[in-house]
Amino acid sequence: MTLILALETSCDETAAALVRDGRHIVSNVVASQVDLHQRYGGIVPEIASREHVLKIVPVLEEALAPLEDAGEEVDAVAVTYGPGLAGSLLVGLNVAKAMALAWSKPLLAIHHLEAHLYANWLITGEEGAVPPRFPCLCLVISGGHTSLVLMEDHGRYRQLGQTLDDAAGEAFDKAARILGLGFPGGPLVEQAARQGQPQRYRLPRAWLHQTHDFSFSGVKTALYRLAQEQRRAEASLHYGEKVPPEEARPGEVPRLSRAGEFPPLSGQVTADLAAAFQEAVVDVLVRKTVQAAGIYGVLEVLLAGGVAANGRLREEMALRVNVPLRVPRPDLCTDNAAMVAAAAYYHFARGERSSLDLDVYPNLPLV
Ligand code: KG4
Ligand code: ZN
Repeated sequence: MTLILALETSCDETAAALVRDGRHIVSNVVASQVDLHQRYGGIVPEIASREHVLKIVPVLEEALAPLEDAGEEVDAVAVTYGPGLAGSLLVGLNVAKAMALAWSKPLLAIHHLEAHLYANWLITGEEGAVPPRFPCLCLVISGGHTSLVLMEDHGRYRQLGQTLDDAAGEAFDKAARILGLGFPGGPLVEQAARQGQPQRYRLPRAWLHQTHDFSFSGVKTALYRLAQEQRRAEASLHYGEKVPPEEARPGEVPRLSRAGEFPPLSGQVTADLAAAFQEAVVDVLVRKTVQAAGIYGVLEVLLAGGVAANGRLREEMALRVNVPLRVPRPDLCTDNAAMVAAAAYYHFARGERSSLDLDVYPNLPLV
């Protein structure tokens, strides 16, 4: 039995977890900073790192609570060392080093995206007991990354394609901002889209044929133009001849509210635009995944990262992928430390160890 303590502070979640044998969650504590960043419409790195400093010890204590003698029972300490925000990563890394040193236990440095993939190894229901089989195709869709990765074995990755501009999560966050929905965008767009008709507006899809790459900047710009048109139409409906000048000039960016958000649109238009946007992003993610799964003859498809929590994506992927599909439980799709511990177990089993003079790598590539 191997028990791993993991820490994760790469972005705006302070997290600690204990996982047994890479698959069984003993504890999993996540402190989200979403309320702090909400008023700025996005993550403020300085606030994030300061908050990690305040939260890391209570979060760690809560994660270790099930153990009687943590220093004896824990076999290794794992931590995310990149990619992510430098100031945030540093907090987790230094605490992990201190724990490893104090307990004389090995330190394991883990890549954040590899950790997202390993959320698929965590057992959360009966159906999860059989681990994923290789080769599998992984669609990694987070706030900062969108990649199709062929996983041939533990620790063996081939990047098949990636986004050429915005990440899928970033596109959802920007769409939420354009629609005046706030932050964090993904869940808010999904929620608004539930009341919407995706067919009312047609948004473009970037297929980038003959590649496994993605692009989401076109759909985002098209959404922005449509939202602008709708704002002007709604303003002229309300004000008649006295259209406010900032709303009246075509092509002009509408004035931002104090919270840094665009003014809201009417409920139904917002819902329809959110649904059309979600449909366009899901359509591309699903079709390109299905295509790559066929080309590489994979045994399974795995989703990973915050956007994999999206219900519409999960539903559509399950319908269209023709090999078994795995999707982590929604709370394990977004940032957490259990996934870091899961990934770390396989490094530990291979005899890998990290040095105590390890540094953070904000732009660390997976392959
Ligand atoms: O993996 P994650 O928690 O953090 C990063 O490593 O980036 O992903 C966060 C991203 C955010 O952009 C967020 O808007 C998106 O995942 N997200 C969603 C949903 N839940 C989170 N996007 C679409 N639908 C969701 N339900
Ligand atoms: Zn993440």
